[in-house]
Amino acid sequence: MENIYEINKLLKKEEPETILKYFIDKYGSRAALSSSFSIEDQVITHMLVSINNHSKIFTLDTGRLPYETYSLIDRTREHYDIEIDVYFPNSNQVEDMVKEKGVNLFYNSIEDRKRCCYVRKVEPLKRALSNLDVWITGLRREQSVTREDLNIVEYDENYQIIKVNPLCNWMEEQVWDFIKKNNIPYNQLYKRGYKSIGCAPCTRPVENGGSIRDGRWWWENPATKECGLHVKSKIG
Ligand code: ADX
Ligand code: SF4
Repeated sequence: MENIYEINKLLKKEEPETILKYFIDKYGSRAALSSSFSIEDQVITHMLVSINNHSKIFTLDTGRLPYETYSLIDRTREHYDIEIDVYFPNSNQVEDMVKEKGVNLFYNSIEDRKRCCYVRKVEPLKRALSNLDVWITGLRREQSVTREDLNIVEYDENYQIIKVNPLCNWMEEQVWDFIKKNNIPYNQLYKRGYKSIGCAPCTRPVENGGSIRDGRWWWENPATKECGLHVKSKIG
């Protein structure tokens, strides 16, 4: 087992590429990026491919993603000539949920919204992580009040896995600079005012001056706006 505190100290000042290389060299196919095809995830994909073009990348297809995200999944596969593992929700769980609560249950209450996120994202994530030692994400501190304490390397007690957030300290502008400089394919919804992109019914553009996650579950309070994928982790 890694000493998370020591690795953080070792990698704290390093560039994201160096952080990724450390884990890919050490864990190989036991390390993977979970990609939602956000600008952050696309930056990490680009870096991973240049380290090793067989690096593992997976996505959770909730069944409710925007058309533009589906199109980007295939554009990314073709652009880098890579494989992407796609995890789907358990069909029995989706059928039971929809029968009981309707297809658009997320607008009813926070409880129903969290149930939908559990069935469509968290349960498939658990399956995806079950064969891994290291989970790489595109999380950044700047994204939300719920992410202010994020570290580059964490131990996620919930999923019992080492979690690596190589872009933890990057600002939005740095992400865009990297995307543009390297001609990385990105989700066309950003051109229409979207700043953070999840499922179609739960995401909308952000009005001028709004913060990054204002367009996600916009009917909820900022402090509840996590879908259960990311539960606060402890260091050390
Ligand atoms: S969420 O928890 O609110 O949905 P967000 O969209 O900010 O998360 O994405 C943060 C990170 O979570 C992404 O960089 C990615 O690593 C992971 N993630 C989010 N949604 C997915 C998804 N559908 N498939 C795979 N990874 C995802
Ligand atoms: Fe369901 Fe919305 Fe969560 Fe997607 S973001 S899993 S549609 S509640």
